Amino acid sequence: MTDEFVLDVNRIRAEARQKMEAGPVTDTYGTDRERVIGILNDVIATEVVCWLRYTRHAISASGIDRAQVSAEFTEHAAEEMQHAVRAAERVSQLGGDPDFDPATLTRRAHTDYTTPPDGELKTMLENNLLAERIVISTYQEIIRWLGDSDPTTRRLMESILEEEEEHADDLVDLLGV
Ligand SMILES: [Fe+2]
Ligand SMILES: [Fe+2]
Repeated sequence: MTDEFVLDVNRIRAEARQKMEAGPVTDTYGTDRERVIGILNDVIATEVVCWLRYTRHAISASGIDRAQVSAEFTEHAAEEMQHAVRAAERVSQLGGDPDFDPATLTRRAHTDYTTPPDGELKTMLENNLLAERIVISTYQEIIRWLGDSDPTTRRLMESILEEEEEHADDLVDLLGV
């Protein structure tokens, strides 16, 4: 028996007319929208904490290789902020409210804000590498959970994950491990 693909266009046309105010969210949306919004809001918190940590480290870095390491931290910080903005735009598309509330950032973030004493480069690089490895794992889990239920959120998370892997790779190169 062949698995025949039948597209019920009449049903879809009728459903599309319902709840027009939901914009891009239609009846074919394949998962728990509130859950995805919650997960993306925690991604926003994670990315903002990463932006804060990289920015602080870029300014505090000291030692012989400070210029090179600081430049890398500054570049990563800018990308983390972009990740937060992209996740927030997706929350909004899904009909949710992006959560940038500073009062709950550290509780919701997957990673920690750290301030190594004396701007010690190796400790900073290790802190950031650990954070990148944590987000690589949590984002992979999110992508697996999404499966094919929400392709747009999945592609967003895949594209962010790719940059987190580049960040981890950059940090390993700087650590010389
Ligand atoms: Fe990020
Ligand atoms: Fe990163």
